[in-house]
Amino acid sequence: MPVKRIFLIVLDSFGIGNAPDAEAFGDKGADTLRSVSRSEFFNIPNLTALGLPLIEGADCAVFEKSEKNNSELCKKGVKGSAVCRLVEKSKGKDTTIGHWEIAGIVSEKPLPVYPEGFSHEVIEEFSRRTGRKVLCNKPYSGTEVIKDYGEEHVKTGALIVYTSADSVFQIAAHEDVVPVEKLYEYCEIAREMLVGENSVGRVIARPFEGEYPYKRTSRRHDYSLEPPEKTVLDMISEQGKSVISVGKIKDIFAGKGITEAVPTSGNADGMEKALQYAKKEFEGLCFINLVDFDSNYGHRNDVDGYAKAISEFDRWLPELFDAIGDEDVVMITADHGCDPGFPGTDHTRECVPFIMFGGEKNCSGKSPFVLNLGTKQGFDNIAATVAELLEIKYDCDGNSLTESVLIEKAREAADNAYAPYSGFKVGAAALGADGRIYTGCNVENASYGATVCAERVAVSKAVSDGCREIKAIAVVGGKNGDFGAECAPCGICRQFLAEFCEEPEELKVLLVSSDGTDEIKRYSLSELLPKGFGKKNLK
Ligand code: THU
Repeated sequence: MPVKRIFLIVLDSFGIGNAPDAEAFGDKGADTLRSVSRSEFFNIPNLTALGLPLIEGADCAVFEKSEKNNSELCKKGVKGSAVCRLVEKSKGKDTTIGHWEIAGIVSEKPLPVYPEGFSHEVIEEFSRRTGRKVLCNKPYSGTEVIKDYGEEHVKTGALIVYTSADSVFQIAAHEDVVPVEKLYEYCEIAREMLVGENSVGRVIARPFEGEYPYKRTSRRHDYSLEPPEKTVLDMISEQGKSVISVGKIKDIFAGKGITEAVPTSGNADGMEKALQYAKKEFEGLCFINLVDFDSNYGHRNDVDGYAKAISEFDRWLPELFDAIGDEDVVMITADHGCDPGFPGTDHTRECVPFIMFGGEKNCSGKSPFVLNLGTKQGFDNIAATVAELLEIKYDCDGNSLTESVLIEKAREAADNAYAPYSGFKVGAAALGADGRIYTGCNVENASYGATVCAERVAVSKAVSDGCREIKAIAVVGGKNGDFGAECAPCGICRQFLAEFCEEPEELKVLLVSSDGTDEIKRYSLSELLPKGFGKKNLK
């Protein structure tokens, strides 16, 4: 049973500090969560219950105010969550690069910025193709630029081209001088030109009207750079499922792979629209960007505003939880940092949190069980996880975090191993075709031959609960509480596994490398049991 719907929420700029390469970005010491957590308005019981403070490096924050057992989510019976810290692989810290990595694309270079303006060649070609001269060509405030260059533009018809600290090529023109449709055509020309090393993130039409000092009109239009390769969004929509954009997601992906989109006016509206989708029927991904954290608070160094916004988001989570079903999953993450307490107003290079929980309810009223997956390299692990959960084929560099969930569950199961004779404790966690995880440990016996291995215990648990098919199994083991040994299933277990899978090529066996790196090694059962004797032979 695949997951039906994933609600992937990007808290724009909600970093958790400690990026290993922060210094290279001039951001050593930046930590959005740490800064925000110092505000008296910071109160996030639900995120605390879901395990945010357990994430590596996030323990710094002041969480006492957020008593997790009083969280609404706990009262509503949220069952479990998985958390980890994600390190960005791409060499940029902007919104586009961050979201692209979340969707599977790693960028070797940041998007280009133009603190000195665009090159002579670019301006020359743009002039030639539009038949108009260019004014300004430097970083400028959008309201100032029409004050300072508007009159000359009106007089001569030359276009006002300017940029900012972001990767943008903006064209301002008076609507009576350049009709807005014409301005859009000029933007399309610029968009077509600005590729390769000049691939700016966005070309933006900035029409204005009236008399000096002029007023910008609402007919702004953005032309985003298309992602250079297919993202998981393309694969989901190509395979017939929905990809719904809430907020600026559609713009960030230049519409690619999006089947439906709704713009938002800010966080409150974004949360409201996400909730509306949660109450609707669809299958696939609802990808939500909550932009206020970044634009209203991070960039404006407003620590209290940021703290209030994250607390509001926290208060909204139980509503979302009410609206989702057993087969739905919620993921919460961020695209970069923007520490409001750090000098400057730019984005900051930081790691981001990842929190995943499901819609299944737990009637016992206990706090959720949090599985801590440690630190993972790459936001693209999210793309791999989304693809795996929705059963979409998508090849990217990232690894599905559900694999790490299985390994962690296996580690926990190993704690219960009954191994008084060998001292070798083994844990296994099998993912059933019903989406549930079944765990087992080895159970030894004084008559040594009566011992059962962890894998067979886990699979038998699945079978006795009515699940006849295993999709994946993680196995960990070792002596003296150290589960570092690569512990491949024994011959009998391989044969046992063969009984409860559809295709031995498709059954993944996950082992942890014994070299101390915690690297996950993947084998198919057919690799471990070539030419196995199985059900098919008896047909
Ligand atoms: N064992 C397992 O549970 N699974 C394996 O994959 C290998 C071995 C157990 C059986 C026994 O209790 C102990 O490890 C030493 O062989």
